[in-house]
Amino acid sequence: MKGIILAAGAGTRLFPASQPISKILLPIYDKPMIYYPLSTLMLAGINDILIITNEADNENFQKLLGDGSQFGIKIKYEIQYTQRGIADAFLIAENFINREDVALILGDNIFHGFGFSTFLKQVLANKNGATVFGYRVKDPERFGVVEFDQKGKALSLEEKPSKPKSNYAVTGLYFYDENVCEYAKSLKLSPRGELEITDLNKVYLEKGKLNVEILGRGFTWLDTGTQDSMLEAANFVRTIEANKGQQISCLEEIAIYKGFITANELEKKLEPFKGKSAYYEYVFDLINAEKSMKKMNF
Ligand code: DAU
Repeated sequence: MKGIILAAGAGTRLFPASQPISKILLPIYDKPMIYYPLSTLMLAGINDILIITNEADNENFQKLLGDGSQFGIKIKYEIQYTQRGIADAFLIAENFINREDVALILGDNIFHGFGFSTFLKQVLANKNGATVFGYRVKDPERFGVVEFDQKGKALSLEEKPSKPKSNYAVTGLYFYDENVCEYAKSLKLSPRGELEITDLNKVYLEKGKLNVEILGRGFTWLDTGTQDSMLEAANFVRTIEANKGQQISCLEEIAIYKGFITANELEKKLEPFKGKSAYYEYVFDLINAEKSMKKMNF
């Protein structure tokens, strides 16, 4: 399965903080925002990833993540020149997807929960069509909203409805089958001039091929689109990391855990960062533990 991170937003709501640099490169506590969605794709076992950026920031993303070899994965880059909507990702990425299954995650979405990797594996086993995730929120009018019948089957989807039919937001993590690019091409621009991801999901819903999985109490989903939500997310990450002494979304840790890279390979690649920051100290501790065969505890 391929993976896409959509990170092309201008982040105007965060100006002036995001004037010189993409919002998705700003930190959430101790690491750049993009580490979080990238970690989610890696936890889903995806190691072939396309990052879609705006024109001005493309180079900065490459400076940070390179070709992905530091994490034992492949990363390519494309540019979205105008903000034509989230579903535009499937027009930009058509060659990259090459009619395979694909996951899309928004650059400002953070997912956290025990056993997320196993959960995704279970959810995606033997599924066809599309899979999206419903998450209970107190302000559903800010999101795509899914309505369920009494048996929990999805009935309708609406983008930012003024009168939401449920409290379940559709999160910014989407899994699609090989037809996604064809369906994306059939979409019309919405009144706000965008190819809406909700319209794409409706195509699957109408064909009876949309699975909506609930992310229950054991999981946390944060959309870090505003100053307040960025601060909330930073506090959340700090609280968990300080409490457990374990990092959230440490890409090198996930790369070892998933078998994308060995501790020895990683040690060589990270040599220039030795002793540089608390983040890399944590990674070097992991490398040493791994080399002395102490089991990593997720
Ligand atoms: O976070 C989940 C929500 O994301 C869903 O519930 C909604 O259905 C979906 O439309 C989306 O809503 P947002 O209001 O969060 O969308 P926003 O326009 O803020 O875009 C989300 C991210 O995607 C943001 O970081 C910018 C990036 N983006 C967005 C558009 C429209 C792009 O890179 N290119 C685009 O053309």
